[in-house]
Amino acid sequence: MTRKVFVTHRLPGRGIQELAAHCDLNVWMGPGLLPAAQLRDELAGCHGVVCLLTDRIDQDLLDAAPDLRFVSSMSVGVDHIDVPAMSARGIAVGHTPGVLVDTTADTAFALLLAAARRVAEADRFVRDGNWTAANAWSPEFFTGKDVSGATLGIVGLGAIGQAVARRATGFGMEVLAWSRTPRRVTGIEMVGLEELLLRSDFVSVHVALAPQTRNLLDVDRIGLMKPGAVLVNTARGGIVDENALAAALLNGNLSAAGIDVFASEPVSPDNPLLALPNVVATPHIGSATTLTRARMADMAAANAIAALKGQPMPCCVNPQVYR
Ligand code: GLV
Repeated sequence: MTRKVFVTHRLPGRGIQELAAHCDLNVWMGPGLLPAAQLRDELAGCHGVVCLLTDRIDQDLLDAAPDLRFVSSMSVGVDHIDVPAMSARGIAVGHTPGVLVDTTADTAFALLLAAARRVAEADRFVRDGNWTAANAWSPEFFTGKDVSGATLGIVGLGAIGQAVARRATGFGMEVLAWSRTPRRVTGIEMVGLEELLLRSDFVSVHVALAPQTRNLLDVDRIGLMKPGAVLVNTARGGIVDENALAAALLNGNLSAAGIDVFASEPVSPDNPLLALPNVVATPHIGSATTLTRARMADMAAANAIAALKGQPMPCCVNPQVYR
């Protein structure tokens, strides 16, 4: 019997066509993102689902999908999936690490440079017609913060953190890092989180969102950051206390921030960070290049195909389900 697999969005890449050869494939064609109630209805009778990070896959959904055997997410982060609940039911969860490392590190570095050199603020200034003969150039005009020679603290030295470190070295930065998993990487000084916050001119966040990292950069830790430091977050919003960050940016303790991810997405227009000119905000575009998104979709399809063949997924977050 052909098994049913539901895909919650049209996906780029060729893998999805290959997947269609292995199952009875049903793809949500929009418009927009799939509403949660509809996902629940669609999953009835499905053997597997290929989802995005916008789809919440939790115990409630599982209860409505008794035939579900695998979840393949086109994302590296899996905080939208209740992985312990999946593991308890023997459901394999796939994700897409590796292929988005350099693209996401580029985004982190783009935000770091944009925040340091006030690129978004300067762009608004020009477009709004504020660049006039009276202020055409002066010694203090749009002065920012030097990147070269500064110290970068990397919170979470996984593959993306290491890729950011490589870029930082090229820019002449000194690199410190803190990681929950002990690591030794040439050219990077491993320090405790507090020391990292005290010493870094720039801090870039690269840990996954998990119960242990939720609110990791809370009001106290943000309070430890070096005066005038810049915070960059391309990991997940829930890791940084947004109100504490906004307060530190408003009172001048921090000079700027580059934020790609928010505790609630899409970010609410009244989020205090959006009211600050020294925040560069982007809409969760860390891995957003055409090539990387196609590679992620192909990897999600490869995980699903393996699951349909009864094989271990090439990239599974809960491989204990195979034991
Ligand atoms: C993006 O945030 C991802 O988890 O892939």
